[in-house]
Amino acid sequence: MNKTLFATLLVLTSLVTHAQERQHLLFDEGWQFAFGHAADPARDFGCGTEYFNYLTKANSIHNEGPYSPKFKTDSRWHDVCLPHDWVVQLPYAAEASHSHGYKTVGWKYPDTSVGWYRKTFTVAKEDLGKHFELQFDGIFRDARIWVNGFYLGGEQSGYIPQVFDITEYLNYGEENLVCVRADASLEEGWFYEGAGIYRHVWLNRTSPVHVRTYGTFVHADLQPPFDRALLTVETRVGNDGTEQHHYSLRHTLTDAQGRAVATATVDSRTIMGKGDDSSQATLTLDKPHLWSLNDPYLYQVKTEVIGADGRVTDSYVTTTGIRHIAFDADRGFLLNGEQVKLRGFNMHQDHAGVGTAVPDAMQEWTLRQLKALGANALRTSHNPATPELLDACDRLGIVVMEENRLTGVNDYQHHQLERMISRDRNHPCIILWSVGNEEWGIEWKDYGRRIGAAMREMCHRLDPTRPACAATSSGPTIVEPMDVAGYNYIMQNPVEEHRANYPQRKALGSEETTGCGTRGIYFDDRANGRMAAINRSPEGRDSTLNCIERGWRFYDERPWLAGLFYWTGFDYRGEPNPLSFPATNSEFGILDYCGFPKDEAYYLQAWWTSEPVLHLLPHWNLDGHEGETVDIWAYGNCAEVELIVNGKNLGRKAMPRDGHLSWTATYKPGYIEARGYDSRGRRIKTERIETTGAAEQLVATADRITLKADGQDVAVCRLELRDRKGRFVPTACNMIELEVSGPVRILGVGNGDPAWQAQEQPADRQARTFRVPAFNGLAQVLLQTTHEPGNATLTCRMGAKATATVSLTTQK
Ligand code: GAL
Repeated sequence: MNKTLFATLLVLTSLVTHAQERQHLLFDEGWQFAFGHAADPARDFGCGTEYFNYLTKANSIHNEGPYSPKFKTDSRWHDVCLPHDWVVQLPYAAEASHSHGYKTVGWKYPDTSVGWYRKTFTVAKEDLGKHFELQFDGIFRDARIWVNGFYLGGEQSGYIPQVFDITEYLNYGEENLVCVRADASLEEGWFYEGAGIYRHVWLNRTSPVHVRTYGTFVHADLQPPFDRALLTVETRVGNDGTEQHHYSLRHTLTDAQGRAVATATVDSRTIMGKGDDSSQATLTLDKPHLWSLNDPYLYQVKTEVIGADGRVTDSYVTTTGIRHIAFDADRGFLLNGEQVKLRGFNMHQDHAGVGTAVPDAMQEWTLRQLKALGANALRTSHNPATPELLDACDRLGIVVMEENRLTGVNDYQHHQLERMISRDRNHPCIILWSVGNEEWGIEWKDYGRRIGAAMREMCHRLDPTRPACAATSSGPTIVEPMDVAGYNYIMQNPVEEHRANYPQRKALGSEETTGCGTRGIYFDDRANGRMAAINRSPEGRDSTLNCIERGWRFYDERPWLAGLFYWTGFDYRGEPNPLSFPATNSEFGILDYCGFPKDEAYYLQAWWTSEPVLHLLPHWNLDGHEGETVDIWAYGNCAEVELIVNGKNLGRKAMPRDGHLSWTATYKPGYIEARGYDSRGRRIKTERIETTGAAEQLVATADRITLKADGQDVAVCRLELRDRKGRFVPTACNMIELEVSGPVRILGVGNGDPAWQAQEQPADRQARTFRVPAFNGLAQVLLQTTHEPGNATLTCRMGAKATATVSLTTQK
């Protein structure tokens, strides 16, 4: 080998080695969990009661709590995997918090409101000299964190990430301990919030001079006709070593195929030991491939830190999308110059069977359910989102209004706002920062105006490229200083009057009601926690009749409004308004807690997509209502619809834009049939609903049958109950026994019943059997892969005869 080649290889090898120093290691497995106590330190493993406790000395030799390496776990501790929400397995009680779904957590339940987590890990001896940090994406809440007995700090809010430098505290080549205490005694929101380490944890390894976590900000300056983009790359480099260093940066923009399409460098920088250094560079790109809703094209910027010796010491990747956004007082929202009506949903992070610990695969699954209805926008009510949700929005082409948790201008609130914006400002999906929601105590007051203006400026300093917004319940002052006003409900906000008084105001509907109701319920059963959708009850307050239609029609008819976000996409746990215990879940969704559609989902799909839609309600299993007059509605977008009831033609009617059709009939078992016609009179859709027999068959399907054997991936299985003739039984609530074989676990189950109080998860993660009651014909099972590749089966049994199976393959 000649000398030059040898030297080149040597340089290349060291380049690779150093660039690979950065490691972003998922730290979700191998944790142990036990309850502590919120009110009694003796039952909280003596936490903090030691002579010289963890706050008195850097690493007190007297420490005896779970944070101490010498602490011995006992039978109270069990194995858990993250994301983890310990509330999912807690029982319900009538006196527990309405907001949190009557789960026995919170200040009334000190013995189930503090959770301790421990995990041991090793770090290679050769890694001495590298930089290590622990990154927690979200812990609910009031977290305190220790490594090897050293108290690292904590975070009160459950919604923002925490990053700790642990380099100096590690034992290299030996065992290390990380310990977390979370205290969910206090609620941060008025909706179910779960408890525990419900988002991912990461161990980050870099060389001492590296791009800081959340240390880049890539934003495109793009002017019509959008044929040239100037991308500013702002970079914050940190030096966690103790020596001064010289470095330069090389930024490479790559397209979706990984081809380098632009580069820029930042030369000759000096960074002090334990210092930070910020720089800017510009990447120029002709004919950028724009990010849009139909074509969410993503680029990446690779930022390499190059030391004085020419070696690459760090390589950091920022995903970005190139798009132009604008809000306009007359034209609403514009994406790449085109007017886009925001058809959005509010969502809390919460799903049947897993609570707030929603696996990444389900974040994407959830968005796909909403997108299938024509949704193009999401509001992360009322807190910063989990990063993987935003990644999925980037990939799927869904724009996001991301919301800060607590409104205010001091360190506590500003820190939360800062963390959210600096973490998330590279996402092309984000189009708005919301500084708060329905701040009843300030939105009518002068200080609403002042706080709003201050927070708007805080947003602009952190991100000059996006507007700031606040959602008002009705008070005028908070939205006055905002770049975009958010109206929660046209029933509460005089939107037209505001338009007259503030013609330059840019505005949208940050909440609008879907009408609320239980899937498949057409007669109120409020005492048992179930109710018919308010959309069909004429005597509601201020006539809430057809409220889902009133909302969409209002926004659809006014081009100056950017669009709306319905309250909500999915049902969520807690806030079962207007009901209370035994109802445990909200019923605001157009999809239930499992994502099964309610009737209103078809209303939106009809007017938000271009597919032909025709849906009839109610079902025709109205036992006990024989002889009663029933309103039959058709949702859909066919030009005309004709209804047949038990053989009798009730007439053909023209479908009003953004509306529905209705007929009345006397209930008698049999069938109802709707025939949909297009504008030229051709029949394009038929929807027939028959009175069925009892459930005798089970059909089980999975959203995907090939999964990643990564211990994280999830298959969403749908169990559907049918009668002997194979017809869906919309009232069936049979118990279904479950059994799994192969490399999957039963992560959780649900059925969408808002009065659910059964177990949602097997207590033992290794359990091979479990059960789920169906609710109104449906149930859901979430199967999670292990690390083993292979074939897995879910067998479902209903009674002695009906069996259904789902077969999955898991692959490395
Ligand atoms: C709104 C609020 C939401 C939810 C909803 C229930 O006022 O912003 O978070 O509570 O009411 O109706």
